[in-house]
Amino acid sequence: MFALFWTTVLFSLSGSNTYTVASALGRPSCSNGFCITLNKGPITAEAGFCVVLPCSFSTADEFTPKNIVWFKFESWKRKCRDSDIIFHTNPNKVQPEFLGRVLLLDPDVSQRNCSIMINDLITFDSGSYQLKVNGLQNGWTDGFMFTPKTTVFVKDLNQKPKVMIPPLTEGQQATLTCTAPGFCSGSSPKITWMWERKDEID
Ligand SMILES: *[C@@H]1O[C@H](CO)[C@@H](O)[C@H](O)[C@H]1NC(C)=O
Repeated sequence: MFALFWTTVLFSLSGSNTYTVASALGRPSCSNGFCITLNKGPITAEAGFCVVLPCSFSTADEFTPKNIVWFKFESWKRKCRDSDIIFHTNPNKVQPEFLGRVLLLDPDVSQRNCSIMINDLITFDSGSYQLKVNGLQNGWTDGFMFTPKTTVFVKDLNQKPKVMIPPLTEGQQATLTCTAPGFCSGSSPKITWMWERKDEID
């Protein structure tokens, strides 16, 4: 007996609010007139999804911010170097493994909003991140590295797609619905549909 089904598959990638960001802002932390506000405590996310690192800053009056740089802080190095850059307006300065994955949510630096989104997370992204703001101090090029860091913990992917299969009737069309979790702006999920015949083991 061989049954033939006309099958329409409907993909829906709509945003179910399934990624979690505990974005409770902490208090501003200030030094020499430069203040930064980061998330209070570590942020947890899942591999394959994205995470937002909320951030805002203010500078000393004589300092005009021009661009911001985000670093991944490796504690064994003590200080962030150019080889730790994960976000920069010049893509040539960004570490290849972060290139194209980090988005500055408000590109207008004069808004002093340094929040970034990291897409297509991998567990290796777990760690601490540090901000530097470059600009002009009394007309001279200068930069300020903020010491507070924001911490991200990337867990293994645990969320599952939602699949809905209605009762199937021979000779009739059916719509199978699949929704991938998350609403990240990174790459689209790769979708594979598989079918197993009832009378086959494999
Ligand atoms: C920063 O910008 C993002 C995106 O526009 C917004 O969601 C967030 O609330 C802003 N944060 C602050 C502190 O203004």
